[in-house]
Amino acid sequence: MSQYEEYPGYVLWMTGLSGAGKTTIALLLEEDLKARGCKFERLDGDVVRESLTRDLGFSKEDRDKNIERVSFVAKLLSRNGVGCVCSFISPYQAVRDMVRAGTTNFIEVFIDAPLDVVIGRDVKGMYKKAIAGEIPNFTGISDPFEAPANPEIHIHTDQETPAASAQRILAYLEERGFIPVHEAALLPA
Ligand code: ADX
Repeated sequence: MSQYEEYPGYVLWMTGLSGAGKTTIALLLEEDLKARGCKFERLDGDVVRESLTRDLGFSKEDRDKNIERVSFVAKLLSRNGVGCVCSFISPYQAVRDMVRAGTTNFIEVFIDAPLDVVIGRDVKGMYKKAIAGEIPNFTGISDPFEAPANPEIHIHTDQETPAASAQRILAYLEERGFIPVHEAALLPA
């Protein structure tokens, strides 16, 4: 019998503005979950858009297609006992609800930071260009973001460190029996 069989698959769906901290937290989760020996896959917008959805842009229709394809992959993985950590802006509630309905153990995580904070961070330099009108349909500037109404987890990345956010998410997964309990947490608080 495999060491993994007692743990069900799940889809940890991180939604939020560009620069809110989705990928940073996902990478910390990956490090910890791999150390626990969990079956795990990470699906990230910037990576997926270079392969599976490289034909798509940022109109509402294309964003919905992007998420629909990712949802298909997450469905296959989660029903086969793999924990999926997905980080996509995914600005529309209806399509997030569609992922919820189509996958196993969906957990919506709102990675939240105020717009002025993400503009101030501007990790990729994209907000500056979007404000200057050089990138059309940029989420938060010239395109909508529908904040989750009832996320299972709400993270405020302007109020705690990425490691503390990752710890809270791991505690949630532990409590629900999705991952083995770690006596000595790997990540510093
Ligand atoms: S989603 O809206 O379809 O869920 P996704 O998470 O895959 O978006 O990709 C977002 C990333 O694409 C951003 O982090 C940013 O680097 C890049 N990007 C390029 N153009 C845009 C845009 N118009 N709006 C938002 N992000 C954009």
